[in-house]
Parts: sequence; C-alpha cells; structure tokens
Amino acid sequence: MKSVIIKDKEFELFLTQDVIEKAIDEIAERLDKDLAGKDPLFICVLNGSFIYASELMKRVSIPCEVSFVKMSSYKGTTSTGKLKEIYGLEEDIRGRTVVIVEDIVDTGYTMSLMLEQLTCDAPKEIFVTTLLLKPDALQHQVQLDYVAMEIPSDFIVGYGLDYDGYGRNLPDIYKLKNS
Ligand code: IMP
Ligand code: MG
Repeated sequence: MKSVIIKDKEFELFLTQDVIEKAIDEIAERLDKDLAGKDPLFICVLNGSFIYASELMKRVSIPCEVSFVKMSSYKGTTSTGKLKEIYGLEEDIRGRTVVIVEDIVDTGYTMSLMLEQLTCDAPKEIFVTTLLLKPDALQHQVQLDYVAMEIPSDFIVGYGLDYDGYGRNLPDIYKLKNS
C-alpha cells in the first residue's frame, strides 16, 4: 500500500517492514554482545512498543527477562509538573541491568520521566532502546543507547504507533502526507 487513510488523515508509505527489521537485527546483535552475562530485564513500554518489543526480543538470544509497563497520561491541566507515571512494573529492579524498550522518542519528555522514576528504584544500570528517534524534536536531555532509526519530525503511524488509537497494526510505517 502506497498510502492509507486513517480517520480524517492521509498517510504515505515511509519505512517498509524489511528496512525496519534490518535495523532491529543490528540492535539485537549489539544488545547480545554488550549485555551478555548481565541477566538483563527488558521493560517494554505499552502500547506503542508492542511490535518493536516482539521483533527485538525474538532476535535477542542471551538469557533475559521481559516485562511490560504503561505510562499513565493525564489529559488536561496540572500544576504539579508530573504528568505521567509508570505503572504495572512487578519486578524488583534493585541492582539489575534494565533495558527500556520504547517505540519512539519525540521531545524526550516521556523517556526523561521514565528514567527519573526507574532510577529511584536503584537499578544497577539502565539502558534505553528506541525503534525511532526524531532528533530535531528533542527538547529534553535523555540517555539513548540503542536507536534503531533516526527520522525527521513528521508524524508517523504503523508498526505499533497510532494516530488517535488507529494504525498500530500496519506492518510498515507511514508518514502524514504534506507534513
Ligand atoms: P515524547 O514524550 O515527546 O518523546 O513522546 C513520546 C510519545 O509520543 C511516544 O511514546 C508516542 O506514544 C508518541 N509519539 C511521538 N511521536 C509520534 C508519532 O509520530 N506518531 C505516533 N505517536 C507519536
Ligand atoms: Mg511510546
């Protein structure tokens, strides 16, 4: 499919599954090499990372644990500053090597909060992998260790990423037309 319509918007083909998965192969190889013997715990951030997480974890061959969390998001105004919190983490991460698995880092806000919150639980070390990074959109300083692909600041859907809840099941990545 060269383009798709989701709700009121048209998206055009941007990254095909085979291109994406070649980039994932490389990340998995690096993780296997770097984290061998560290018994890592992969913490995948739902919903967006579900396809990246499954493709990545099929390729990682060292012994590891895989877990899933969500970030709550509160719409509307707040004056507290803390807008999102991790929930669903059942493992004790104290003293562990942790790898956060994200779909995309845009401004870096979400990842900066995740790192801040997980650091409070005293892991031995934290690494971050993201399928996609929009370097020009970054506004927060975040540690990014394993970035599969850098992309321009266009809005994209597919491969786990959504537009208003839809499009996550597209096997390729599409970008908003005329953006
Ligand atoms: P950040 O906090 O600005 O870095 O944004 C991170 C979150 O925004 C991601 O986990 C996604 O859920 C969402 N997001 C950012 N860019 C896109 C996009 O292009 N398409 C779909 N979701 C996006
Ligand atoms: Mg995400």
